[in-house]
Parts: sequence; structure tokens; C-alpha cells
Amino acid sequence: MCGIIGYIGNKQAKNIILQGLKKLEYRGYDSAGIAVMDEKKITVLKCKGKIAHLEELLKHRKAPIRTHVGLGHTRWATHGAPSKKNAHPHNDCSGNITVVHNGIIENSADLKKSLKENGCHFKSETDTEVIAHLISRFYKGDFKAAFIKALQKLKGSYALGIISIYEPDKIFVARNDSSLIIGVGEGENLISSDIPAILGHTRQIISLRDKQIAAITRNTIDVFNFQGCRVIPKIENISYDIDTASKGNFKHFMLKEIFEQPQILSGLVTRYVSSSGNIKFDHLKIDKKFFKELSNITIIACGTAYHAGLIGKYAIESLVRIPVTVDFSSEFRYRTPVIKAKTLIITISQSGETADTLAAVREAKKNRVKVLTICNTQGSSLTRESDTTIYTHAGLEIGVASTKAYTAQLMVLYLVALYLGNMKGVISKNNLQKFIAELKNIPLAQKKVLTDYKNIEKLAMKFLHFGAFLYLGRNNNFPTALEGALKLKEISYIPAEGYAAGEMKHGPIALIDEYRGVICIVNQSPVYNKIISNVQEVLARGGKVIAIATAGDFQIQNYVKEIIFIPEIDNIFSPLLTIVPLQVFAYCVAALKGYDMDMPRNLAKSVTVE
Ligand code: G6P
Repeated sequence: MCGIIGYIGNKQAKNIILQGLKKLEYRGYDSAGIAVMDEKKITVLKCKGKIAHLEELLKHRKAPIRTHVGLGHTRWATHGAPSKKNAHPHNDCSGNITVVHNGIIENSADLKKSLKENGCHFKSETDTEVIAHLISRFYKGDFKAAFIKALQKLKGSYALGIISIYEPDKIFVARNDSSLIIGVGEGENLISSDIPAILGHTRQIISLRDKQIAAITRNTIDVFNFQGCRVIPKIENISYDIDTASKGNFKHFMLKEIFEQPQILSGLVTRYVSSSGNIKFDHLKIDKKFFKELSNITIIACGTAYHAGLIGKYAIESLVRIPVTVDFSSEFRYRTPVIKAKTLIITISQSGETADTLAAVREAKKNRVKVLTICNTQGSSLTRESDTTIYTHAGLEIGVASTKAYTAQLMVLYLVALYLGNMKGVISKNNLQKFIAELKNIPLAQKKVLTDYKNIEKLAMKFLHFGAFLYLGRNNNFPTALEGALKLKEISYIPAEGYAAGEMKHGPIALIDEYRGVICIVNQSPVYNKIISNVQEVLARGGKVIAIATAGDFQIQNYVKEIIFIPEIDNIFSPLLTIVPLQVFAYCVAALKGYDMDMPRNLAKSVTVE
């Protein structure tokens, strides 16, 4: 989704903004722009398409722009097509006020109508432009007052960055339901929608809260609420390793992130398992009594995190023996879910900023339930609005198609299941030790799967021409089938459907012929024979099968030639392994097709609007 970067200090703002925009590319965008203040004049440059194009425009400007204050934006179109005129920044009629915006102004049509009646001339089709005109209309010599007045008229979500010739040494920002951070530097300050854009400059941040504004100079940051009263902000340190924001020796972020998984999972086990073999979630802000008396769990998430939630359901129901429901956040928020007193809501999110998940939590909280968030992003909105958070510590994930964040979510869910199972007396100390020992084997087992990279690449080459794929799995690997299919469609644009293998006869079997690639997850499990029957049904209709099977399985070799083996593991944890070859397969197909899988078309890394 859209990205914001802004700089004020004594360096060349345009260079820092360009670098920042490049770091925001992964969020997904279709146009970009930059605004810099040059001796009391604001210069705006924008373009449709890539940042590289904007960079060219800047290079070819006759007069070099020398400035110390500026804003940049990557736009992901909502109101109005991707185009130069709709790209941000947007100005008021005088060109004295310039705005970049993430989010959606829901009452923009009404505001636009009344502003037009008052003589405002609009240059774009965006909802954002109304903000510049509104501030201009309210400006009577006090910029902050005009800004607050304008904000009071807005309905919807926004992170805003604003510069104005009326206050040439300041950047103004505001936030409501859309992430905005201030990077605190020395003699310079930055603003951004997310961390990677400022990582190279500072590790100290202020996460603006909803309904707060800030006025930022190169040396000061003044935060206020929407009533104009001063608020003391909290400065946090970000612990991200700066290397996670670079590709290292890998061709793409996605590949790097796939290969990071063993290390991340091993780190999680070390972090959350004590030397005595107990699970320790040290800073949980929900008391143990609540966990002991818990009667059911509802998991809420979107996209890949939702698939992690589905696997969480299998794990928790089997290890804790309490019912679990899993909902898409976008569904949960608009139905009337039954939430009982002893329900725990678990939300899962890489970014912690997904609009629907945030709204679902707010909806749930109306019932006074406890919310535990499994999240990768320190200090994100979701972590602030939940009762407690368990971090996935996967580091920055740049690839739009989530890989390492997913398996980290799974690992945390398994640990939560073991923690609750043990607390409720369903899992004995002895069994807990056995499960933990098995979890400790996962990183090495994942490494083994990754050594098969070349074989998976060959299979990708062989199956590249198929126009559609079906992914089949059963039981706890049914969600793996969904996730495998999602990975392929996200980055290779090949239609791919994940299905519970047992449901195949109720529809998808009609699709099977010699043009269909079918990926079957047939690891050793209590349903092994059932899925073998499904494989035979596919083969009988000419479908071309790739099997994900357990090392040492000779039976599968009687039917299928194309096999990717995973090491033997307790079936309950097998989704941590079975997904890895599917991630690699999707990556290889996209790479062979020549697509940029780090920034797939139309997709956004962080979906901050509904
Ligand atoms: C987008 C991303 C997915 C992600 C989903 C949920 O669709 O492209 O990779 O799974 O949002 O995001 P979250 O940050 O809440 O996990």
C-alpha cells in the first residue's frame, strides 16, 4: 500500500527521500512523487510507475534542487487510476501547502463538493487533495490551528505528512488508523509509514498514536492531540538488524527470506523455551488463571496469517482440547460472532497494521474479551491495542509474498498450544519435553529441504507451462495446500487453488486433465492412505502430480515420479516443513517467468485500508 517518507535536517532532503522511497517499494505501489521546499517555494515532481522514473526526472531537472525539507510518497491507487495527476504529493490552489497521505478519506466526495462551491480547483481525482484545500481554507495565520480544524472535518483513515511555506522549517504529521512513525535523529528528523525507510538514519522512533499530530523541526518534535494539547511521546528503540533490509548474496528478498527460516525458528525455540524445558512467555499481560479457565479460542487474521491460524486450529484443538474457530478479519468484523467470557481472541499479523484485523480486534474488544496478538512488528498498532503480544522475531520481511513470517507464526502457535496444553494438564511434562525436542529438530530439517533447491527448480521448469494448479492436502496440511496455492498465484499469476483433498470429488475433480498441475501433500500422517487414494484419482484422469512426501516413503514412488522429500517429523509439526518446498517452487516458477516476485503486481505488503 502507499508509503510515506519525509525529511528535515541539514542534508539534501531529495536524496534521503529518494533512498527512503526505494525502501518503501516493497509495500506495493503504482506511482510516486516527491515535494521539496526550496527557498520558500515547494517543488513537486511525480510520475506513474517506478521510483527509477522519478529519479530520472530529478536528474534531468535543469536547476538542481537544494533543500533540507521534503516529502515523498508511493501511491497504491484507491480513488482515481494510477497516473501522474493522481500521484501524491497534492497541493492546495496556491501551491503553498503540500500533502502526502496514506489511507482513505471516506467523506471526500462531500468535502470536495463544498470546497468546489467555494472556488477550489481540483487537479486530481484523489480523496487526498481535499486535505490540502481544507487546510488552506482554514489558514488564518496559525498553521497548526488550521491543520487541526481540517482534521476535525475528515472521516476515515489517514497518515499525513504536510509541508507548507507558512511554516517552512517544519513538517506536520497526523495519524488516524494508519501507521506513521517519526524517526528521531540528531539535528535531523524523519517521518515514515514504516521502519525500513528510516533504518539507515536512526534506530529511535516515535510511533504516533491515533488522533495525534506532530510539528517537527530538525531539532524538535512536538506532539499534540486533536484538541491541540501537548502529549509526551514515547521514544522506542528499534531492534531490527539493518542487514534484513538488504538482499545480501541473494537475488531476491523472497529467496533470502525463505533461506532465513531455519535460523528464525531456532531463535524462537531458544527464546521461548527455558533451559529446564518449559515454555516461557515472559511478558504476557494476561494472567495464568485466565488461560487455565479458557474455554475456546477465536483466531482472526488475513492472507497468509489466516492460513497460519488454520494450522493453529489443528494444533490447539489437538494439544489443548478446546474448540478453535478461525475467521478472516474482514468477515469477523461484520458478522455478529458469539464471544463468551472465557474466549481468547488470537490475532496473527506480520505487519500489525492490517486494517481489517485492527477493526476486528476493536469489534471483539466491545465484548471485553482478552486479545493476544502474534505479531512481527514491534510497537505496531495491533500490539498496542491487544492485551498482550508474542513477537515472531522474524526480522523485517520485505518480500510481498510472506514466507519467513508465516513459519515464525506457525512456530509461535505451536508453542502457544504446548503452553496452554501443559497449563490445562492435557500435556504431561514428559510429553511436553518430547514435543519440544521435536520442535528443536525443525530448523535442521528445513535446512535439508532447502538443500533440494535444484531439484525443486527443475520441477518448476517442467511444470512452468501449466495454465492452472490444484494444491491438495488433508488435515493439518490442508491449510498448507491453501498457502502453497496462494504463494504461486501471488507471484507467478498462475491460477492456483488449494483444496482439502477429501473435498476434491465434490467439485475440483472436474478440472483435472493432462493440462492440470496438481501438487499433493502426502507426508506420513494418519490420513496418508486417504491422500494416496486422491493421488490415484488425479493420475487416473491424466493430472500431472508433484508429491511432497516423507523421506523413506517407497509406496509413493510406485505412482508418482516427481517427488520432493521432506525429513521425517511428528505429523503435528509437519506444516513447518511441507510449506518450504512450496515456497521454493512458487519462487522458481516466478523467477523462470521473469517476474519480480518481491513486488508482485497489484499486491501490497501491508494492507492498511479496508
Ligand atoms: C497482505 C500481504 C500478505 C499478508 C496479509 C496479511 O495481503 O501481502 O503477505 O499475509 O496482507 O498481513 P499481516 O501483516 O496482517 O500479516
